[in-house]
Amino acid sequence: MRGVQITELSGPRTALAEAELPEPEPSHMLTPGRGVVVDVHAAGVSFPELLQTRGEYQSKPPLPFVPGSEVGGVVRSAPEGAGVSAGDRVAAFCGLGGFAEVAVAPEFLCFPLSDELDFAQGAGLILNYHTAYFALVLRGRFAPGETVLVHGAAGGVGTAALQVAKGLGGRTIAVVSSDEKERVARDAGADEVVRSDGAWKDEAKEWSGGGVDVVIDPVGGDRFTDSLRSLGEGGRCVVVGFTGGSIPEVRVNRLLLNNTEVVGAGWGAYVMGKPDANREIGAAVNRLVDTGAVRPIVGARFPLERAADALELLDARGATGKVVLDVRGG
Ligand SMILES: NC(=O)c1ccc[n+]([C@@H]2O[C@H](COP(=O)([O-])OP(=O)(O)OC[C@H]3O[C@@H](n4cnc5c(N)ncnc54)[C@H](OP(=O)(O)O)[C@@H]3O)[C@@H](O)[C@H]2O)c1
Repeated sequence: MRGVQITELSGPRTALAEAELPEPEPSHMLTPGRGVVVDVHAAGVSFPELLQTRGEYQSKPPLPFVPGSEVGGVVRSAPEGAGVSAGDRVAAFCGLGGFAEVAVAPEFLCFPLSDELDFAQGAGLILNYHTAYFALVLRGRFAPGETVLVHGAAGGVGTAALQVAKGLGGRTIAVVSSDEKERVARDAGADEVVRSDGAWKDEAKEWSGGGVDVVIDPVGGDRFTDSLRSLGEGGRCVVVGFTGGSIPEVRVNRLLLNNTEVVGAGWGAYVMGKPDANREIGAAVNRLVDTGAVRPIVGARFPLERAADALELLDARGATGKVVLDVRGG
């Protein structure tokens, strides 16, 4: 099969090489001896892959390896008792191996893909939407009618968080850095859009009538203190990532004075050993697909052999929605 490997840890431009590879066995590292084999149509491109080209991601497989954490495709084979079977269209989280024509995922991370979504949207469903649902509902204790402020709102996690919050009956404020990103955030269901280089904290407080209930923050950096200041009483700031580059520090007196919370949301660490939690989150996300609230926004698409261009786009802060590699076309 055709695949793209990381062969050296020199960054997105030079770390990757195309290769002819043997097809994987039906076994996944999380479920040794068992695994759902998927004919990959589209592979999602995400921050972990970018970090992996520099050896900066927490998991560091020996070189060379095929990156690619999630795919949209068709099941070739599945173990007895799996919730999917041969011929099913699926969204699958394989962790590694997605940048190739065939990939393997554990059965509890394979979800039926609605006919409403194409394979590219399937490749953008799990990491972003499961994270968004997990961060908002399980960690952020979001309740219908609450106001949610989303940073990096035109990005993968950001657009997902907007759609999930809207779908669950929330009011949404998007923080973005450009006109184009504003358009993407509005398409994803932002009720209000504010600029990251403007007076977004004051605008958010005013629009929400005193402070937001939940902040979803995949960006971090120096805007974090203003995120805390934008919360209303009982508000929760959910830490999702650090695309801004630096890890913020909190002066906890702020939490005491305003009765607010900072909550961590690490989707992978939480769900990997919990098949039932995955099925629950998968079912909740699929219900939001059925109601029309969730429609993964696919931004740039590249053929498999241009994986380096896809990763460089993320690196340059140029991505909107989900960046996808077309592995076998549509
Ligand atoms: N906790 C979890 O379980 C979990 C799960 C999935 C992903 N993540 C993390 O969440 C983060 C976001 O992932 P994503 O897929 O949404 O990324 P993305 O699509 O590239 O979006 C990230 C957004 O961050 C903003 N940003 C601000 N400063 C930036 C900078 N210096 N470089 C790049 N972007 C910058 C950009 O928005 P503006 O230009 O509008 O500011 C950009 O749209 C990543 O750190 C990822 O590792 C965490």
